[in-house]
Amino acid sequence: MPGPFRMYADLAEWWPLLSPAAEYEEEAADLLPDLLAAPDAPPKTLLELGAGGGSLAWHLKRHFTLTLSDLSPEMVAVSRTVNPECEHLVGDMRTIDVGRTFDLVLIHDAIMYCTTPADVQAALANAARHCRPGGGVMVIPDSVAETLEPDTHTGGHDAADGRGLRYIEWSWDPDPADDTFETVYAFVLRHADGTIDATHEVHRNGIFPRASWLRWLDEAGLDATGRIDEWGRDVFVGRKRA
Ligand SMILES: C[S@@+](CC[C@H](N)C(=O)[O-])C[C@H]1O[C@@H](n2cnc3c(N)ncnc32)[C@H](O)[C@@H]1O
Repeated sequence: MPGPFRMYADLAEWWPLLSPAAEYEEEAADLLPDLLAAPDAPPKTLLELGAGGGSLAWHLKRHFTLTLSDLSPEMVAVSRTVNPECEHLVGDMRTIDVGRTFDLVLIHDAIMYCTTPADVQAALANAARHCRPGGGVMVIPDSVAETLEPDTHTGGHDAADGRGLRYIEWSWDPDPADDTFETVYAFVLRHADGTIDATHEVHRNGIFPRASWLRWLDEAGLDATGRIDEWGRDVFVGRKRA
């Protein structure tokens, strides 16, 4: 597991200017029909592993009672301010033990920090362990091996107190034969007093074939299906076997 990353540590307080809840509205609307679909009782409880700053969760909390967990205490602190009504826990998605099961378990844009098959399998096994029989586990890697392409995004926002952030996110795969690719983040930070800092860091992410994801979900005790969303990402949903 790579890291720790400044983005989720001393820079975490900038998360609402980097990736605010407003940017997750369409994505949440796309995921909700799958989350709400259930073969038995309507789902009420949802555990998110790697919930980060709680930006996606902000859109889900009207529909479910959320428990939000993340490896980074700093990111959990950000999510607490965004989602004060939700339960928050610090923990690794591969090992956290919440002590109860949920109707739904979600791993969204955090699963790519699992860079080996063993890491992914541990995270999926732990997600399945926290899912009640008949409940659902939704996993959304940013890319699978079949869809990974070099990519560049820019973005960022301003705050009312004068702070501002702009970033470049630049992904490529230096070695298509291995299980990882790289994303460079370059940040320009404007502080409230107008001073500017610039910094960057490289994140290593896991990349695996679609068939591996489906096999690992099955091995975790989940009947899995996948679909491709309107942004070209694979959305895997596993139904926990009794
Ligand atoms: C891109 S952010 C998630 C953002 C989140 N979807 C949101 O709406 O704000 C990725 C998160 O994954 C977390 N993470 C990385 N490895 C983890 C692990 N092993 N267990 C739990 N969280 C992890 C990081 O701390 C970071 O907060």
